[in-house]
Amino acid sequence: MTDIEASPPYDEKLEKIEIEVLLEAIYLRYGYDFRDYAYPSLRRRIWHRLSLEQLGTISLLQSRVLHEREAFERLLSDLTIPVTEMFRDPGMFEALRRRLIPAMREIPLLRVWHAGCASGEEAYSMAIQLEEEGMLARSHIYATDISKACLQLARKGAIPIDRMRLYTKNYQAAGGKRTLSSYYELSHGGAKLHPGLVERIVFAEHNLVTDRSFNEFQVIFCRNVLIYFNAALRERVHGLLYESLAPGGFLVLGGKESVAYTGFAGRYETWDDEFRIYRKTR
Ligand SMILES: C[S@@+](CC[C@H](N)C(=O)[O-])C[C@H]1O[C@@H](n2cnc3c(N)ncnc32)[C@H](O)[C@@H]1O
Repeated sequence: MTDIEASPPYDEKLEKIEIEVLLEAIYLRYGYDFRDYAYPSLRRRIWHRLSLEQLGTISLLQSRVLHEREAFERLLSDLTIPVTEMFRDPGMFEALRRRLIPAMREIPLLRVWHAGCASGEEAYSMAIQLEEEGMLARSHIYATDISKACLQLARKGAIPIDRMRLYTKNYQAAGGKRTLSSYYELSHGGAKLHPGLVERIVFAEHNLVTDRSFNEFQVIFCRNVLIYFNAALRERVHGLLYESLAPGGFLVLGGKESVAYTGFAGRYETWDDEFRIYRKTR
């Protein structure tokens, strides 16, 4: 959906004021801070919600969101964009297996953090890869998100069966050593990942905007999250990620994300430019 389709003719300045007030209201009422998210994407998502709620102005949406928790949850789900896949960008997972995992083989206890894990597919993929490399038993995987709804789903390890065709293709392209079906059972029309795999992952609420570092990790995935932040917020979150990374640790970003042009560029070496893998050097 383009911006033009999404919004009726609307005074640009007024729209900006209303959006600012809406975000401030959400922050004061619910503690979620979207004030430094990238404006064009926020704007698009707010108009999308407005049209689904059949409301004419952002101020009306603000009122509904303040008074009805469910309306806020619906908007929250729009603003957080919980889109994900297992073995998303298979080439990146293949590069991890080929280059990064060998570099970590000697580490006695591997701590991995998936920051902005959505419904868990990225963390499940890493768990499978570590299992196939004989490293899962000595790995701790933490997967965090701001969305409670996503985390609830993630802990279940249930995946709609219609996603499995794509995930199987991704798994194979990522250099999977078995078959993806060896990690799940079919039940109630869906796929349920083996509990032994899901239970290896600690799913927890963590807000990259307002919460602090909570451990030191050898690998941090923060993929397809920073693109939704403005430059100032990206810089702040890069600080948090850097602080949370062990010396020599790896930062894995999404295809459109980078440490270049941030205050942290000089503190990483580019380990893999194509798949946005960086290694902390100092
Ligand atoms: C597009 S998904 C990316 C999921 C996964 N990393 C991937 O690449 O497939 C973005 C996720 O970031 C989460 N997110 C957005 N803002 C966040 C914040 N401030 N703190 C933590 N997670 C956040 C959203 O809830 C959403 O689940």
